[in-house]
Amino acid sequence: MNILLTGAAGQLGNELYPMLTGIGDVVAVDVNPAGARAPGCRQADLGDAATLERLLDESAPDLIVNAAAYTAVDRAEEDPELAALVNATLPERLAHWANRNDRALVHYSTDYVFNGSSHRPYLEADTPDPLSVYGATKLEGEQAIRSSGCRSLILRTSWVYSSHGHNFVLSMLRLAATHPRLRIVDDQVGCPTWAHNLARVTLVCLGQDSMLRRGASNLYHYSDGDVVSWHGFALAIFDAAARLGMLERIPEVEPIDSSGYPQAATRPKYSVLDTSRLRETTGFRPPSLADSLGQCLKEISDND
Ligand SMILES: NC(=O)c1ccc[n+]([C@@H]2O[C@H](COP(=O)([O-])OP(=O)(O)OC[C@H]3O[C@@H](n4cnc5c(N)ncnc54)[C@H](OP(=O)(O)O)[C@@H]3O)[C@@H](O)[C@H]2O)c1
Repeated sequence: MNILLTGAAGQLGNELYPMLTGIGDVVAVDVNPAGARAPGCRQADLGDAATLERLLDESAPDLIVNAAAYTAVDRAEEDPELAALVNATLPERLAHWANRNDRALVHYSTDYVFNGSSHRPYLEADTPDPLSVYGATKLEGEQAIRSSGCRSLILRTSWVYSSHGHNFVLSMLRLAATHPRLRIVDDQVGCPTWAHNLARVTLVCLGQDSMLRRGASNLYHYSDGDVVSWHGFALAIFDAAARLGMLERIPEVEPIDSSGYPQAATRPKYSVLDTSRLRETTGFRPPSLADSLGQCLKEISDND
């Protein structure tokens, strides 16, 4: 099987690459391949239609795994065109190519398609209402894939972290080295998800043909097992990092409201995804935050 992996240098792409090589021949691509685990990761800006078409024709994938995305949530507010090009137009073009050639597409979306006013975990059938440019462009991408008619699987996930890239875990470790006291938002809750687990789930889903469907029923929620606020996540990070001897000093962490940490993009207050559909379909049990964080931090410590 020929597989095209986009966003191969990102958090998820780097976890997917070694797993996908177990099921096919993988062509890995990123706009900025530095830091990609995939040997020979190609450089390509997939926002360019001609570049994309050429890549698809040359690599002739049976399966496209689209881990490319514009994930800078605040920057997207100032650059909605680029966010839309990567998060909406790119998946739309991939979906049309997949549909024309009867190939399959795996794509990822976000909890930020919801407005966060719910009092129970969000189901796939709940009505999205994004608060940010990032969330709106990711929703457009989902909708374009679902209306293209191609065989596809869309996994919505949340609060992704890994041992490299831009994420909350690495930011907290950096801040802990220089700040004895931190103020962290406590009125937004969600489920931190280790990119490695999301890659594993993807492979489990790929093992079930029935999960790559045309149209409306191809959407699943996946996040790891525990609900925390950003403040709770920071405490969990420092606790696990201290146990691994990674911190010279554990910072004091003060809980604050979002109003005390203004950001360009509004985030949902309640960002919990209901994962029962995926759990029932695959039997996959989302690992706990403590286990996943421990493994991720160990990896960070080993890389240092
Ligand atoms: N990160 C989160 O917290 C989070 C939460 C919910 C859902 N998700 C979704 O999960 C998926 C994976 O996210 P992630 O955290 O792995 O993202 P990531 O680390 O930002 O990786 C995305 C990769 O795509 C690349 N890319 C961007 N524009 C491109 C273009 N025009 N052509 C080719 N490659 C391009 C990025 O390069 P540059 O970095 O150089 O731009 C980056 O290497 C995405 O669909 C994301 O929306 C993420």
